[in-house]
Amino acid sequence: MTKIAIVGSGLIGRAWATVFASHGFEVALHDVAPGAAEAARAHIAVNLEELAGHGLVDDPKGSIARIRVASGLADVLAGAGFVQENGPETVEAKRALFGEMDELAAPDAILASSTSFIMASVFSEGLKGRARCLVGHPVNPPHLVPIVEIAPAPWTDADVVARAKAIYEQAGQVPITLRKEKPGFVLNRLQAVLLAEAFRLVGEGVASAEDVDKTIRDGLGLRWSFMGPFETIELNAPGGIPDYCARYSASLDRMVKSSEGLGNPFDSGTVAEVMREWRGSQSAERVKKLSDWRDGRLAALQAHKRASARKPD
Ligand SMILES: NC(=O)c1ccc[n+]([C@@H]2O[C@H](COP(=O)([O-])OP(=O)(O)OC[C@H]3O[C@@H](n4cnc5c(N)ncnc54)[C@H](O)[C@@H]3O)[C@@H](O)[C@H]2O)c1
Repeated sequence: MTKIAIVGSGLIGRAWATVFASHGFEVALHDVAPGAAEAARAHIAVNLEELAGHGLVDDPKGSIARIRVASGLADVLAGAGFVQENGPETVEAKRALFGEMDELAAPDAILASSTSFIMASVFSEGLKGRARCLVGHPVNPPHLVPIVEIAPAPWTDADVVARAKAIYEQAGQVPITLRKEKPGFVLNRLQAVLLAEAFRLVGEGVASAEDVDKTIRDGLGLRWSFMGPFETIELNAPGGIPDYCARYSASLDRMVKSSEGLGNPFDSGTVAEVMREWRGSQSAERVKKLSDWRDGRLAALQAHKRASARKPD
């Protein structure tokens, strides 16, 4: 199997290592911060046991045995056929890392970035090996949320895209492929629109942040855990999507246009309004407790989805 190099072992890097190792890949981990890759490996060992408890990983001990801590960038890339980069989210950091990785990695190794917003053309232009670079954007945490957005640059080889897709699938992920570049790809563009409206509704005093959360948690989100927006609206009018649009497009269009030209929905005044009634403090302890709770619920949901009947054709 292709050997995997994980460059940057923070939140996302260590989750990627979990994904690949638990699907049988040999994984090497690297981070510039001293001790970070070792700490990530220890964290992954605990995580794998928890996933096994939810029936999502068969062999936690075998999985952790497949992860090694590398001694540096050259070592992590040695023998790797697929590199998943998870460094800082700045254009400068991505350009610097991809420059170094392109120099050091085997010529046929694929170089994928976890970047949330930066297009592959921005950090790979000018590289000798730019045809083997692309974005493979995961969702936090990728070992529990399987979507990965493959976003190639205009010059990425079609064969590289196909090979990346096959590797992600082998690792149990659900890849989608963008047909052209767009900052933020698909997922974060959809999320941005929803977040902008959520902040505006609270900022304008229409609803509390808690009630907006409930609207997703106990409303839209229930269907979204197994259906997309198109699949959802298909069932909301007898004639399917065209009928839905004929009935509701004028109202939808009015709502969309009513937000056009408004200011930044994430400005400090609106954020303060959201925080006015927000309960709890942002202590590290509370974040850890909530993240563990979320991961447990996501694992249970994944187990449910795997055991569920497939959608009828
Ligand atoms: N956090 C999320 O929800 C999320 C989701 C999807 C994608 N991403 C993307 O994943 C990437 C990593 O995000 P994160 O949340 O894991 O950040 P993080 O801060 O948790 O981890 C980044 C790690 O990279 C290391 N690093 C910095 N420079 C390095 C270098 N030159 N070589 C090797 N390691 C280096 C840091 O020491 C740190 O451990 C970003 O591009 C981010 O946009 C994040």
